Amino acid sequence: MLCPKYKEFLKWVVYQVYPRSFYDSNGDGIGDLKGVTEKLDHLKDLGVNAIWLCPCYKSPNDDNGYDISDYMDIMDEFGTMADIETLIAELHRRDMKLIMDLVPNHTSTAHKWFQESRKGKDNPYSDFYYWYDEKPNEWKSVFRGSAWEFDPVRGQYYLHSFAVSQADLNWENPAVRKAMQDVVDFWIGKGVDGFRIDVIDRISKDIEHGRNSFGPRLHEFIRELIGRENVNALFTVGESSVNDIDEMIRHCASERNELSTLFLFDHMECGRSDKFTPKKDSLKSLRDILVYWQMESGKHDLLHTLFSDNHDQPPLISRIADDRKLRYESATDMAAMMYLLKGIPFIYQGQEIGMTAAHYDSISFFNDVESVNTYREFCEIMPEEEALAKINFGSRDNARHPMAWDSSKNGGFTTGEPWIALHSRWQEINLERDLAGEHSVYRFYQALLKLRRSEEAFITGELQIISSPEDPYFIFTRSESGKQWVVVCNFETKQEISLPFACEAPVLSNLDRTEINGTYSPYECAAALVKDAC
Ligand code: GLC
Ligand code: CA
Repeated sequence: MLCPKYKEFLKWVVYQVYPRSFYDSNGDGIGDLKGVTEKLDHLKDLGVNAIWLCPCYKSPNDDNGYDISDYMDIMDEFGTMADIETLIAELHRRDMKLIMDLVPNHTSTAHKWFQESRKGKDNPYSDFYYWYDEKPNEWKSVFRGSAWEFDPVRGQYYLHSFAVSQADLNWENPAVRKAMQDVVDFWIGKGVDGFRIDVIDRISKDIEHGRNSFGPRLHEFIRELIGRENVNALFTVGESSVNDIDEMIRHCASERNELSTLFLFDHMECGRSDKFTPKKDSLKSLRDILVYWQMESGKHDLLHTLFSDNHDQPPLISRIADDRKLRYESATDMAAMMYLLKGIPFIYQGQEIGMTAAHYDSISFFNDVESVNTYREFCEIMPEEEALAKINFGSRDNARHPMAWDSSKNGGFTTGEPWIALHSRWQEINLERDLAGEHSVYRFYQALLKLRRSEEAFITGELQIISSPEDPYFIFTRSESGKQWVVVCNFETKQEISLPFACEAPVLSNLDRTEINGTYSPYECAAALVKDAC
């Protein structure tokens, strides 16, 4: 039995906002908090009831806000504390929730804690970070190069799992853990409804034995931070590289008092053999992974997140479906495949208009620290052209360009100069144009979310897979209290589909179907009520 708290969370539909690129309210070319507040009616109209806001804290912005220099203040470019208070109030007024992004594993080296810590071995912050006279191992940073940096001020090396200016906090130090609790409590005091927790698997490490994540005290630390009554009642989702069910249970079973759920990344490997190398793939590989996790988590009453895109990933549509001729069909089919399963939908900004991966003609367009560092390394071992093609494929900037609202200058994102170039196809793919078309990705999302809202079956209903693993389509049912719904999602070829049970006419369809059985075009999908469900 799903615990009552999880049942409530299943009603959430979350929209992820990357504030820098969402909407610029003052013409400086950078999206901001006031811009988010201005667009809340749009989000409400789409049918979401919560937002996850990527970091908006004080930050020098080496990693776009994931390098925090003050957890209890707002980044100048994004606005003020009053602006976030207004945003929270305006969300709550619309019955919407706010999930803040919490980054507990590292701070910016500009943070006061680091500035104090580097001064020497005997000040209150000296053990806030990992300091060593010699590099204790050869760990590499996720963003390339050594994970150890020599600090001339302290005369020692510190650990940075990510950029050089993102120093890892030493969670073995109780004062660090207390400081992070204070951060959490501060934001709870402001009225936030939940937290997305950045790289949670890294807060416990075993440096001596070469473990940079999933260290021996991971669960103890999570429970200490989240298990407290005031936090435990909230929604928490951890970003983690968990990829087996037992580990998922240890993080998310309700009686553990740890996280509500996790972002798992298995399905992010679809369509690529490594982050920067494409691989031929289709919706079938996505289906296989989704089915595995749906079945396993179902057995153990775990809560799942349903997502295909975020600010770190090139849109999945461009890797495993058709992002050109059948872009509308692909975007809507993938939405039905994902968001009618059991779990909490997370929609990344732009997905609702069928946004695709970006493409830039020169490395000078890229801003992301990982892309820039990786390009440099690639250029040492391959021609520049090949390196650029790889960066274009895998770069996180694929998902960080400005949201395209309409066909006016800069897609209506800003009246100034955008901080990063718009997507090369923004004139074709923007909200205004999408809405003007005969078929609209946005309207399909609205219809899908409306169906989810109105039918219990899509929230808590039992999932049954009807198609077999070899089928070039995915069919499943969701049932609750005597009502059963069937969802048919075709893959990339034309198919005849005939269900073994009778259905009403589809209420959701991306190509205006009136019959659930029959010939399905590539990427066609539909959902209908099953007749006489038992
Ligand atoms: C997470 C974030 C990513 C960030 C990294 C370091 O993976 O999603 O954007 O760069 O952590 O904080
Ligand atoms: Ca601005």
